[in-house]
Amino acid sequence: MTDIRADELRPNSLEARDKASVVHGLTNLRRHLDVGPKIIDSGKGVWVRDLEGNEFIEGMSGLWCISLGYGERRLIEACRKQMEKLAYYHLTNGRSHQPVIELAEKLIEIAPVPISHVWFANSGSEAADCAARLCWYYWNAAGKPERRKFIAHRKAYHGNTIASASLSGVDYAHDQFNLPLDGFLHVGCPDFFSGAETGESEAAFTARLLHDVEALILREGPETIAAFFTEPIMSAGGVIVPPEGYFAGLQALLRKYDILLVVDEVVTAFGRTGEMFGTTTMGLEPDLIVCAKGLSSAYFPISAVMINDRVFDAMLAQSDKLALFGLTMTYSGHPVGSAVAREAIRIYEDDGIVERVRRLEAPFLDGLRRRLGGIDIVGEIRGRGLLAGVQLVESREPRRFFAPERRIGPACAAEAERNGLFVRAIGDTIALCPPLVIDEAEIGMLIERLAISIESVAGTL
Ligand SMILES: Cc1ncc(COP(=O)(O)O)c(C=O)c1O
Repeated sequence: MTDIRADELRPNSLEARDKASVVHGLTNLRRHLDVGPKIIDSGKGVWVRDLEGNEFIEGMSGLWCISLGYGERRLIEACRKQMEKLAYYHLTNGRSHQPVIELAEKLIEIAPVPISHVWFANSGSEAADCAARLCWYYWNAAGKPERRKFIAHRKAYHGNTIASASLSGVDYAHDQFNLPLDGFLHVGCPDFFSGAETGESEAAFTARLLHDVEALILREGPETIAAFFTEPIMSAGGVIVPPEGYFAGLQALLRKYDILLVVDEVVTAFGRTGEMFGTTTMGLEPDLIVCAKGLSSAYFPISAVMINDRVFDAMLAQSDKLALFGLTMTYSGHPVGSAVAREAIRIYEDDGIVERVRRLEAPFLDGLRRRLGGIDIVGEIRGRGLLAGVQLVESREPRRFFAPERRIGPACAAEAERNGLFVRAIGDTIALCPPLVIDEAEIGMLIERLAISIESVAGTL
């Protein structure tokens, strides 16, 4: 009897029905048919509960998104009220509605750099895709249609539509999907810990990477480059915080060659790094800012592209020529999403979420360093605010990484799950991105559950 799987005994279970009907992203599809799903049934604050009633600390805010935690009454009410009043309207042919106007005004007010107008979409991928198209539109308006290429970092994640996956610097989004598209170029990730050569200083590493960026620009021809896309901190790349001076040097190059800068704040916006925007934390001066996820705290799919004067003026000039701006989507600026996002920003402000993150940064990051720093296989703990990466290594000195096929990171994440904590393994980096409403006691539990999980895996090596 022991080799008969539970769903064969219970053919109508949710697990069996999932396996028979649902396709899961970033999942080994064949293995999924064996092991089945973990079904999450409910959530409250930073806690989620599965079908069996087991409780987990949501150490990743789902997919880096449910910043205000589960069961937030104000967001639920904002959603209900807007659904009752006007469940849908669009922005096409000049139509509008109050929620989207109020949201756009608020985003312009809190933007980290001067912003002229806001374009709305439904996901981070769509917004990154739209940002790329706006860059092309801009250069066509400027009479430089040959500026068509984009540069982004290896390991960066900008989404999974055709253009945003092309921007992403990860093989899994490209392999067998015929991507990246031509003209989507990638440069080295500013990951000092993993990318530095033996004995190389941080300054020398930074100079080497910037030299490589400039060499690529010159090789391709500066007159062919439309924009550079970057996250302030490369979250899905393994929570990579670029070294001091990297972004200053990069922006000097972009100014020198007149290349637009698009900052992807899908994870970092709305308090995550201890400022309202990661742009401020990392000293960036973008032309376009992409945000999603925390915009509505994931209570409704909505994303935004914040557009500066330079780009918006060109959009005006272009639509003068063409008699219309040809980008549209049925759910762009959805009134329910707009109302929920506006309320989310009210909560970030009313509840002092940015100050809260600043206050919790030390208990979180120093607490991780204190408790995990002594474990042999922990090589580095990095992050900002309530965003952290715990890098696992086979040996600290000399620095040696685990062979990827040993899957040490995923083993630690699986052990954490057995210990009641959801984290994400990005290779051998354990990513942490808890809801911003987490309290100090919960941070302590998160750290302890992660520590015993890593210790347990380390003990088997
Ligand atoms: C930095 C960044 N950009 C874009 C995206 C894509 O967002 P979405 O999954 O909403 O399409 C993600 C998703 O994780 C992300 O982390």
